[in-house]
Amino acid sequence: MEIKVLSGDITQQSVGAIVVNLFEGVTSPGGATGAADRALDGAITKLIEEGEIKGKRGEMTLIHTLDKMAPGRVLVAGLGKEKDFDLDRVRAVAAESCRRLRRAGVQTVATIVHGAGAGGLDVRGAAQSVAEGTILGLYRFDNYKSNDGGTDIAELTIVEANADMLSDLEAGVAEGRAIGDAVNFCRDMANEPANAMTPSEMSERALQVANEGGMELEVLDKPQMAELGMGALLGVAQGSEEPPKFIILKYAGDPGNPENTLGILGKGITFDSGGLDIKGAAGMSTMKGDMAGGASVIAAMKAIGQLKPKINITAIVPATENMPGGRAQRPGDVVRAMNGKTIEIDNTDAEGRLVLADAVAYACSIGIKRIVDVATLTGAVVVALGDKCIGAFGNDQDFTDAVVAAGNEVGERMWQLPTYDDYKDQYKSDIADIKNTGGRGAGSITGALIIGEFNDGASWVHLDIAGTARSSAVKGYNIKGATGVPVRTLVNLAKQLAKT
Ligand code: BES
Ligand code: MN
Ligand code: ZN
Repeated sequence: MEIKVLSGDITQQSVGAIVVNLFEGVTSPGGATGAADRALDGAITKLIEEGEIKGKRGEMTLIHTLDKMAPGRVLVAGLGKEKDFDLDRVRAVAAESCRRLRRAGVQTVATIVHGAGAGGLDVRGAAQSVAEGTILGLYRFDNYKSNDGGTDIAELTIVEANADMLSDLEAGVAEGRAIGDAVNFCRDMANEPANAMTPSEMSERALQVANEGGMELEVLDKPQMAELGMGALLGVAQGSEEPPKFIILKYAGDPGNPENTLGILGKGITFDSGGLDIKGAAGMSTMKGDMAGGASVIAAMKAIGQLKPKINITAIVPATENMPGGRAQRPGDVVRAMNGKTIEIDNTDAEGRLVLADAVAYACSIGIKRIVDVATLTGAVVVALGDKCIGAFGNDQDFTDAVVAAGNEVGERMWQLPTYDDYKDQYKSDIADIKNTGGRGAGSITGALIIGEFNDGASWVHLDIAGTARSSAVKGYNIKGATGVPVRTLVNLAKQLAKT
């Protein structure tokens, strides 16, 4: 889809449809909605009077213009209550209105910038959100469909009456485009079945990002991991025939300043059967998506390569399957991670923390002082927070606040859970330094703390996306399947840290 920006009168555009909007409770529309109403001889006002248009959130009213104006149709999108209006709602409205028009077979759309006028939002941010929401909302994963899913919207024109705003709009749209494409790149990876999205294929996607963005890529294979002593990761990998990969992707945005570095680490379990502690069918059905954290850090690098923040960023993905093959690790086995710590395997299904143990130790070994790890780590976080927000954990309150704020700013909500030292008693082992599980209580916290055991002095935040990485329904800018969280958070964080 091509996205253009122009200044002019939206009612004069020769397109399949235009999108205008209405806040809940408004009875005489102004701005572009008012202009469309006049061109339609008051049709919108009449529908408001009759109660068909209320401006409610999610309401979409499609009106045929029957040659009264250049656009073939006018879609009036309800914005909901003005007091609840924000950039995340702009994304959702853009997504839903374009999906509605696509369903009607419309291929060229012009839209106003929701929020830039009556909504009082920052114009650049609003334009970015329209572009982002549209790209996210129109996403389809149809690689394996023999018949296509119908027509696509080929062209979106963002129209603004005030010509002074054009350069802000263009900047916003360029950023929205880069970020939206990156989120969909993440979704593509996480939606691929596990027979296609192997650790090797993940490294191919990372190579694509490296080539596009002029970044350095290093992919360690099994002997190299063994050389480095990554026994925790290799223990997980040994039950699978599929070769593991340790992916390191480096963006040098501030090469003169090696201290200014952020590490973004993602769990890359391309399929989690549970290992010998095998999952039941219901628990295993979505486990192709257990590499969503890894996908998100690779995808964030795609946007970072385009937006070029002044900061050095290293993405690290320990990628492997967790399978119950004949060589699989057993409950009771002891493995040694790269930093020398030994781990008793209490449950082979607690594999994410094992692969991340070596990733965190590796990140510290190359001098990274700020780490964010992203993982579909625990069922427990789904119990605690459901699919509405990401669980955040950290060892440095300022850095944790920065990550949580970066997420909340872009509509990827996060909620911090505690990491009190007292919880560490739960994963004491009789024979090794620690074991890999912490019992029934506070499962997402002990999972986080076990990863933190392999940190050496870095400010560290762990994001548990087990509840948020997939959506079970089409809603707003999310479609069914991978959501692409927290790509937008990671990109925003990079941007925010680059400023300081
Ligand atoms: N990948 C799962 C966690 C998960 C669950 C992700 C549901 C997405 C949806 C993880 O590897 C796992 O199996 N965790 C176990 C840990 C337990 C054995 C300590 C869990 O949460 O049950
Ligand atoms: Mn598991
Ligand atoms: Zn897992």
